[in-house]
Amino acid sequence: MTDKKAVLSIDGYDTAINLPVLSGTLGQDVIDVSSLTANDIFTFDPGFTSTASCESKITFIDGAKGILLHRGYPIDELAEKASYLETCYLLLNGELPDATQKAEFEDIITSHTMVNRSIEQFLSGFRYDAHPMAIMCGVVGAMSSFYHDSIDIEDPTHRMITAHRLIAKMPTLAAMCYKHYVGQPYMYPKNDLTYAENFLHMMFGTPCGTPKVSPVLARAMDLLFLLHADHEQNASTSTVRLAGSSGANPFSCIAAGIAALWGPSHGGANQAVLEMLNEIGDEKHIDTFVKRAKDKNDPFRLMGFGHRVYKNFDPRAKVMKQACDDVLAELGLDNDPLLKIAKRLEKIALEDDYFVSKKLYPNVDFYSGIIMKALGIPTEMFTVIFATGRTVGWIAHWNEMISNPYKIGRPRQLYTGPSQRSIPSVDER
Ligand code: SDX
Repeated sequence: MTDKKAVLSIDGYDTAINLPVLSGTLGQDVIDVSSLTANDIFTFDPGFTSTASCESKITFIDGAKGILLHRGYPIDELAEKASYLETCYLLLNGELPDATQKAEFEDIITSHTMVNRSIEQFLSGFRYDAHPMAIMCGVVGAMSSFYHDSIDIEDPTHRMITAHRLIAKMPTLAAMCYKHYVGQPYMYPKNDLTYAENFLHMMFGTPCGTPKVSPVLARAMDLLFLLHADHEQNASTSTVRLAGSSGANPFSCIAAGIAALWGPSHGGANQAVLEMLNEIGDEKHIDTFVKRAKDKNDPFRLMGFGHRVYKNFDPRAKVMKQACDDVLAELGLDNDPLLKIAKRLEKIALEDDYFVSKKLYPNVDFYSGIIMKALGIPTEMFTVIFATGRTVGWIAHWNEMISNPYKIGRPRQLYTGPSQRSIPSVDER
């Protein structure tokens, strides 16, 4: 923290208001405005574009430079040298695991991958064509009804076993959503498979036989989880923190995060990218869509482009792009027509003045959808995969908040409705 101050002078106020300016390890300083209420005035910041909602040690983003650090480690280095589970350990505990800790953590997660059989009855209540994200919202929220042995959120042991259960069970639940969607039997997790191999096994295996998962595809799946693991105070993580600030149980907080992630401006963008590429259909139509994206009167936006924080390349998109090339080469799909449209679209957008001037670069969702499509995952499951990878970030932030002094989140407003008035009788209305 610093002894820097901001002095706020307001017309009509007799005295200026001194506000502390706080500095973190990296990034922008913040003005602590918490004392403004005592001066009977609020800040106003719809969309929180200029608001730091909390202090955190988990993830740092420099949007101008396209930097993403998890506990200080750059995302591209983690993608190259760590697995998703090592990254989970890092996000939860603050350090990467040593060999013993890594093996123990993998065993713990493996031992929690099964879900209670009654979850199958829960899923059978959904229509066959229910969107998997609708099912995930319901099922994850319902998980709070199973774990009465660890509901004391003030107990660090309870918080950690809840984190382990969520990380371990999300792939199982995600695969069950898919199986429900395609009308196939559920596949049980197999303890001799890695986290990503297990997910692909539960997704694409059947009791009649399970295709051998190639190391390249398993690596790509692990990378998809890793690149989605956490991203500071994005909309869904902020939702988890706000839900958690009331003392709600962690499963319902994660269900709230899943709901927030579903929107096409957030985690739903990966599905929207594929739908957009399919709608473009051919490279010759790209110019028309780019024109629409620039038209103020047209609500169409280039899905997978732009970001609230990154005004440079999303570092995750760079890693995702390489993984995309590797997967498509492995599968002999490097001439995939959608990939060709995506690469042409990216080139145009990076040269077009509209996108350059507004610093609209490809984000994490731009290439992830193409990889998932190549892996045989239907578009309706894309955001479920995002939610599965992001669960560790959500629960790490929830745990960071609950393990430090916190208050219930309760923003105020600028009221522009009617002044107080009396109720007229019916015939006077
Ligand atoms: C994720 O926050 C996170 O960290 C999220 C995330 C994570 O890991 O949690 O990174 C994951 O959500 C990535 C973003 C996925 N969403 C999309 O790809 C959807 C398309 N992108 C846009 O909807 C938009 O860019 C947002 C929502 C991502 C960001 O919007 P902002 O920051 O609120 O910016 P804005 O809407 O104010 O746009 C600024 C300008 C506007 O033009 P002007 O009003 O200034 O003239 O840029 C334009 C917008 O019209 N613009 C776009 C555009 N994105 C912004 N124009 C065309 N196509 C786009 N994609």
